[in-house]
Amino acid sequence: MSHILRKFPNDPAKPRVVKAEGLYIHTEDGRKLLDMTAGTTTFGVLGYSHPEVLAAMQAQMGKFCHIDYNTWVDPNLEELAALLLSRAPRGLDKVYFPGNSGSEAMEAAMKLSYHVHHDSGKPGKTHYIARLQSFHGATLHGISISELPILAFYEPLLPDGRSKIAQHNPSLNRLPGESMEDYARRSAKELEDKILEIGPDKVGAFIGETMLGSLVGDVPPAPGYWKLIREVCDRYDVHLILDEIYCGLGRSGRIYCCDWDGIVPDFVCIGKNLAAGHAPLSAVVTNHRVEDIIAKGQGRIQHGHTHQGYSLGVAAALAVQRIVHTDAMLDHIQARGRQIVDTITTRLGGHPFFKEVRGRGLLQSFEYDCADKNGFGMTLAKRMLDEHATVINAKWHRVSFTPGYIITEAQLGRVLDDFVAVFESTASGWKTAG
Ligand SMILES: Cc1ncc(COP(=O)(O)O)c(C=O)c1O
Repeated sequence: MSHILRKFPNDPAKPRVVKAEGLYIHTEDGRKLLDMTAGTTTFGVLGYSHPEVLAAMQAQMGKFCHIDYNTWVDPNLEELAALLLSRAPRGLDKVYFPGNSGSEAMEAAMKLSYHVHHDSGKPGKTHYIARLQSFHGATLHGISISELPILAFYEPLLPDGRSKIAQHNPSLNRLPGESMEDYARRSAKELEDKILEIGPDKVGAFIGETMLGSLVGDVPPAPGYWKLIREVCDRYDVHLILDEIYCGLGRSGRIYCCDWDGIVPDFVCIGKNLAAGHAPLSAVVTNHRVEDIIAKGQGRIQHGHTHQGYSLGVAAALAVQRIVHTDAMLDHIQARGRQIVDTITTRLGGHPFFKEVRGRGLLQSFEYDCADKNGFGMTLAKRMLDEHATVINAKWHRVSFTPGYIITEAQLGRVLDDFVAVFESTASGWKTAG
């Protein structure tokens, strides 16, 4: 009997892992599996057990594993903050290290936003607007700004003062004949209408993932969408909190995904890719106005965690981000992303099940349409595992390709060849939609 309380108690036990290195997971039953998901939840952007990151962590362990964030200065922390700001949108010049998980970063950004409004004489701005079909964290405040059918049962526990508008999804919600520009304008107007309905003096922040993530399958926003949202936020003194926990830190082919959209948010939350699974660490990137206002106001940030700015995690993150923050790495991510799009489009673009390949950088989703889409995806995943020892993320209506950035052109080419063959042969015995 296992003593572990598992997320899915009715499922059979999962394989035991004895080693994970590079893009591969080694299981106790002797299998060596290529992980195309970067750790299921995409944290493993440099693969597992990256030697440079391990060396940095070992060196750090020789000094200290953690010192308190608010009492001492960990020299690595200053260096990491400077690195994270080196390619941040213009004007972002402060990094707050709230804790370990992305959820903690989201909550910290919500608190900082409230702090700024409060200390600027607008304490009534306590309402947060987010979007449907989104995920921003597993804590109760994280859930309160998320929307997913499986989370609805927590409703009785959630705080008031949250509203949702439609997800901004050009692949799904654009009307027939509607241009991208008109759709972007309609989406921004929905936010403005919601702010006016609630009352601008009550709305503190609008929260969204810069690019819709894994729930819907990596859908980039319509061009101009975020600029229009920024304008709406500015008009009503509403902060813009971007969640780049999934799409940030190189995933999109740029360090910050919002760099593609040319906007400057008030807060950007980053997490899982920061120390890339070698340790948990998250951060909120913001600007010095926040500090100035709080310094003149309450004089302290009313927030803290024992392991905020966890030193071993900071050492890991610094090693990870030194590798990621290079033109060569970002070019590689973009090239591998194009390789996925080109291969799937060229080889499966004419297939009756083909709908779309979309994303940015190494977040690419291939959406298909057929009978029992979820069953089809699960079959693809099972066959890739059984026949090609490759773990892929295929479910619902799409396959998401999110490998570690270290994947080579040849490795990716082989996986895509295997995938196309599995897709075609599975589809040949599968019913079409409808
Ligand atoms: C977009 C997004 N936001 C927030 C989170 C929460 O991060 P964590 O699981 O580290 O708390 C996740 C996690 O998957 C995420 O994908």
